[in-house]
Amino acid sequence: MSASRDGFTSTFGVLVATLGSAVGLGNIWKFPYMTGTNGGASFLVVYVLATLLVALPVMIAEIMLGRASRANAVTTFEVLAPKKQRFWPVIGYMSLISAVLILAFYTGVAGWVFAYIFKSITGSIHSTDPASAKAAFGALVSNPLEALFWQWVVLAWAGTIIMMGVSKGIEAAAKKLMPILFLLLILLCIRSLTLPGAMEGVKFLFAPDFSKITASVMLTAVGLAFFKLSIGMGTMLTYGSYFRTEQNIPLTATRVMLADLSVSLLAGLAIFPAVFSFGFEPAAGPSLVFMTIPAVFASMPFGQFFMALFFVLAAIAATGAILSIMEVPVAMLSERFKFSRKKATLLTLGVIGLFGIPASLSSSLTASWTLFGLNPFDLFDYISSNILMPIGGILICLFVGWVYGLPQLQKQLSNDGQLNNGLVIKAVFILVRYITPTLILVIMLKGLGLI
Ligand code: PHE
Repeated sequence: MSASRDGFTSTFGVLVATLGSAVGLGNIWKFPYMTGTNGGASFLVVYVLATLLVALPVMIAEIMLGRASRANAVTTFEVLAPKKQRFWPVIGYMSLISAVLILAFYTGVAGWVFAYIFKSITGSIHSTDPASAKAAFGALVSNPLEALFWQWVVLAWAGTIIMMGVSKGIEAAAKKLMPILFLLLILLCIRSLTLPGAMEGVKFLFAPDFSKITASVMLTAVGLAFFKLSIGMGTMLTYGSYFRTEQNIPLTATRVMLADLSVSLLAGLAIFPAVFSFGFEPAAGPSLVFMTIPAVFASMPFGQFFMALFFVLAAIAATGAILSIMEVPVAMLSERFKFSRKKATLLTLGVIGLFGIPASLSSSLTASWTLFGLNPFDLFDYISSNILMPIGGILICLFVGWVYGLPQLQKQLSNDGQLNNGLVIKAVFILVRYITPTLILVIMLKGLGLI
């Protein structure tokens, strides 16, 4: 690849950028709501196992492939696969579909976050009462024009950042702001944990009832692990292509995974004690966070100010994730089809905007457009997280474990013998060659009811 290709400039910068992709609405919104609807602590246990045995090895493999090829998710497999095996770039094309499906609903949820910034300033969501919190959220999502308006604000915001080439600026801002989000989450945890009846929520999160684990719960946990670490759909591969040659990939991936998990756990600890204390429904679904977080803030001094700050920071975290997903189609269109970045961005935004309409109207006009019992919002999420990304993960494992092979893996992950991490490499190899793909396949087929 050409020397002019953009890349990350420092080891710390790589960590921050990768973390910027991983940490987002997945931690603050999706992790708590899925833990709530899938049984609490038992789901958390399965999710952590899925992260360690499935997501982490895939993440390492994916970053490695990107750095080895220094190319987008399609070109990578053309460069690294043997000439006769023309099948592998399919992974890259599947990534495009995942990126569009994810962004169609993710920008919608980010839109709710943007709306909540304003609502926290006007005070209209400042309440600890479950009924009024539910009504406030319902009013937003069931109003087609309002839901669409906020989603388009997000699309315009992300597009402007990419086209002005100021993504680096956002990264720099994120570097400074994410610690504040972390502190705010800790503050929320303290308030939530000291509410009357908070222990119920702690128990819900940490005392597992293993009878609640079913095949579909396991598939959901695997899907969340993929979604959380931005893997199985080209994002980490594309980011890997910007990694520095001397970066320690397994170490960076492990750090990102641990930091990401801590943010999710903090979000869980901020939310579930309050859920039980105020009498919210833990299995409320996607609305959970938007009802509970305002309630916790409403019960603390200067709550309105902190709440507005929280949603601003959540919006910035979401922006980092959105930019990283958009990078997949934008890098592909500009490198393969020689589109300018501006054209590539506009085309990507147009397609997302189109798919975003049915997703955003899923609580109003398109609520009855169901397939397999899922409205467009849930369907896009289900197909990307529970089908496309796991399949992407299986293919990446098979490619690395059986085609790319151990000698190359050793060379890449040890940075040409510079790093002394032979054991880690062997473990990654055994995982991606045998264990991880088998686990994903069995859980997926069982979870989908096919075996
Ligand atoms: N990991 C991000 C989050 O949790 C979402 C994401 C998914 C980002 C896939 C990139 C790719 O919010």
